Amino acid sequence: VPVEVERVAADRWEHGSSLDLSLESGVAQVPWTGRSESLWGSGRDAMRGLLAWGRAEHGWRRLLVPSYYCQEVVEALQIEIAVATYDLRPTTPRIDPVDVRDGDVVLVVALFGARPGVQVPDGAVVLEDHSHDLLAPWAIGSDAHYAIASLRKTLPLPDGGVTWSPRGLDGPPERPMTPEHGAVALDRLSAMILKRQYLAGASIRKEAFRKIAARAEARIGRGAVSGISAYSRSRLSTLPIEAWREARAANLEAFRGAFGGAPGVHILDAPFAVTLVFDDPARRDAVRAGLLHRRIYGTILWPQEDPVIPIGAADLDLSRRILSIHADQRYTPADMVRVAGAVRRVLAG
Ligand SMILES: Cc1ncc(COP(=O)(O)O)c(C=O)c1O
Repeated sequence: VPVEVERVAADRWEHGSSLDLSLESGVAQVPWTGRSESLWGSGRDAMRGLLAWGRAEHGWRRLLVPSYYCQEVVEALQIEIAVATYDLRPTTPRIDPVDVRDGDVVLVVALFGARPGVQVPDGAVVLEDHSHDLLAPWAIGSDAHYAIASLRKTLPLPDGGVTWSPRGLDGPPERPMTPEHGAVALDRLSAMILKRQYLAGASIRKEAFRKIAARAEARIGRGAVSGISAYSRSRLSTLPIEAWREARAANLEAFRGAFGGAPGVHILDAPFAVTLVFDDPARRDAVRAGLLHRRIYGTILWPQEDPVIPIGAADLDLSRRILSIHADQRYTPADMVRVAGAVRRVLAG
């Protein structure tokens, strides 16, 4: 009789880094039902597919993105359209309407899933990015012209992005999966399966799947615009997205409760992850390194040291003080209490 292996063996406990394969299933809820969605190879493929279509069909000429955004994504978008920034960071609410001109598309990003309070004057096209919290009330109730999401940031899928129109406008037709993307998706799926086995205690070296994952990450979203893999297309409809969203919220609460507060650091009010904002960049670096020793892998979203587009001093400064700690469905509140204890100990020196 096969014995159900423990999801994570005691000596393999770690926290963060890329998602491993999940076999949980349920009925997926999504914000795009009946709203002309198209599935793509990644978030970048989704945006590029939409922008190429909008340029040809609607004369879109320029994309305005938040000044605080992923530079690798900006680099990919520049293949399709001229990109400029408007001032927006997760720590500063924006009051003034975005300054737009004819042919502009404004990318409104729910940064770390927080409600994006951005005003866009009539006449410009609004494109929302809901990658960090797919089922947020403002994603479901949106009246933006178009929306996109990367599916692989919150869901255990090897690839995937989506475009839809909250207003029910026509959107770009899907494209086939390219052979290059197929190879990347296979690598990512392989790394996810191997990681799951590693965590469960199998005799797999961590470097084996980390190398495959890194190779895939370096290539995803960079070639010709691709459609989604057959695996992710089918699996998407069986993911218990709502239950996982609730698990994430409970994990964030568990962290907050166990962490309390500490001088020189605060937690951002946003649902994607435990996002710590430090007063001092050196403190952030020290905490990140201390957590790494305890096999807790914090992420910097996003490094701005080498921007492909001019950004503000405040954006660069924030990127040096920020640290995100995963809080997704892989973890239990007990894991988060353990992580909060580790952060406190590292802070205490
Ligand atoms: C908010 C946000 N939007 C879009 C993307 C692009 O998604 P992908 O990496 O799947 O191309 C990312 C991640 O890079 C992201 O964090």
